[in-house]
Amino acid sequence: MCSIIGYYGKEIAAPIIVKALKRMEYRGYDSVGVATKSENQIYVKKGIGKVAEVNESLKLSNLPGNIGIGHTRWATHGKVTDENAHPHSSNSGKITIVHNGVIENFTELKENLQKNGFTFKSETDTEVIVNLIQQNLSKYSDVKKSILKTVSQLKGHFAFVVMFDDGTLVAARFHEPLIIGIGKNSYFISSDVLGFIENTDDAIYLDNGNIMIIDSSDLKIFSFDGTKLKKPITKVAKEFADVNKGDYAHFTLKEISEQPDTILKAGEDTLEALENMVDFIKHAKNVYFTGSGTSFNAALLAKNLMSKYAKVKVEPLISSEILSIPESIEPNSILIVLSQSGESADVLEAVNIAKQQTAKILSIVNSSLSSLVQESSLVIRMGCGPEIGVAATKSFTAELAIIYKITEKLCEGCMGIDFNKISEAISKVLTNHSKIQAIAKELKQVSDIYVIGRGVHYPIAMEAALKLKELTYIHAEGIAGGELKHGPLALMDSNVYVIIINPDDSTYTDTITNAHEIKSRGAKIIGVSNKNNEIYDHWIQIPKIDEPMYPIIEIIPIQLLAYYSAIEKDTDPDYPRNLAKSVTVK
Ligand code: AGP
Repeated sequence: MCSIIGYYGKEIAAPIIVKALKRMEYRGYDSVGVATKSENQIYVKKGIGKVAEVNESLKLSNLPGNIGIGHTRWATHGKVTDENAHPHSSNSGKITIVHNGVIENFTELKENLQKNGFTFKSETDTEVIVNLIQQNLSKYSDVKKSILKTVSQLKGHFAFVVMFDDGTLVAARFHEPLIIGIGKNSYFISSDVLGFIENTDDAIYLDNGNIMIIDSSDLKIFSFDGTKLKKPITKVAKEFADVNKGDYAHFTLKEISEQPDTILKAGEDTLEALENMVDFIKHAKNVYFTGSGTSFNAALLAKNLMSKYAKVKVEPLISSEILSIPESIEPNSILIVLSQSGESADVLEAVNIAKQQTAKILSIVNSSLSSLVQESSLVIRMGCGPEIGVAATKSFTAELAIIYKITEKLCEGCMGIDFNKISEAISKVLTNHSKIQAIAKELKQVSDIYVIGRGVHYPIAMEAALKLKELTYIHAEGIAGGELKHGPLALMDSNVYVIIINPDDSTYTDTITNAHEIKSRGAKIIGVSNKNNEIYDHWIQIPKIDEPMYPIIEIIPIQLLAYYSAIEKDTDPDYPRNLAKSVTVK
């Protein structure tokens, strides 16, 4: 989602800002812009495209001055156009803003400003904020008062950085991330640690309802009621420094390849929290799991594993659905929240609602300093390092590894999980690139792929379909095997490919029956299994392992298949179109 960066220091700001925007590209965006201040003059350049392309054509890095702001935009209000790209300037041209979030009452605010003579160049809600600041500044003649007044007029979620033509930088945070990097004689205001980690690992985390002002005298932080705050400087985790692709062609491939190691680390540095979570589950009246996208698919597997092996009832809820039906969370329950980023707006909103329903919030999170961590009573860390590829891969298996660890404790070792064996099996799967690349060449032509799994394999089928649609733009659907005859069978013909997730376990025979039903309608079958079968047009072999451990292994070859199909289709696997890594707006 949109990335924000502000720089205040002694160096030339523009190249630092461009570099920061490149490091945050993974968050997803459609246009780029930079504004700098030099000798009481503000310079703005912006346009549609990738950071490197726009920098090449507009020479963003050549802008003068030691103070500046930059932005990558992911369109919400208004089309993807040069005019709608950030930064936006106020009518006077003396104030410039970059913003992430959604201002819900922007139409009303815009109409009022228009009545007072303001004009607008873009369709964005952001241009409304900057003009509101100009209006309030002319009333109060004081930067702090004008910002406090402005934030009190805004409804919605926002993080913004504003640059004044005297060089003052002001930031505000309300339910969108914003972090201040403290360098030597310099400050970085960023949506993400990656915006400044190359320069400093000292940071101040702004809370919701904080504003920050940097001018020639100092950096000051206030709450929205104007109270001055003292905030600690935190050391950012070293793991964030490790954000290059190394020898891999893409972050996605690197992250897929890290899984033999990351599943071993999952939850390991928060073992006490893991024990406590088990205890909470044992004694809770109701246990809900929630997440969005991939994290919700992990929640589905939590339900299947916990009822099958631990005989514990848990209910998986899609986070955004909790917003529609808050009553799904009964009072005095526990809500276990899964999130890689810890910043998904739907997830945070679900947490908010669950708290109102007196639920206890327990989280499984990768970004250890995220908003979700601040909202939780207990946190298990995935510990899989930064995940840059928009498609969740290693964070999914880290979530599964933690769910396995919890389930194993709940059932007192009944599954016989051996993470070293899982790690070895994943390593083996990761040696099978050429076979998967050959299948990817065929998939390039296909317009529909279905993925079938039963029982514990159904959530994996759902996740496999999500990976395929996200990375390849091919229509893909996960189907519970038993549902085939209740509708989807009508879609099967010779244009369709079906992936059958079918290890040799208690679901094997019924899933093979599905394969026959599909094959007789002309569709091609890709079997993911430890055991070959003549019904498969292609067999992707996974190692034989004890039954409970298959789900965490069988997703790996499908992640690879989605990756190589993206390469075949010439789409960008790291940054799929229209998607963002952290979905910080509802
Ligand atoms: C997964 O590949 C997707 N990019 C997406 O579904 C993601 O899992 C979802 O947006 C939730 O993100 P979170 O885990 O950071 O909350």
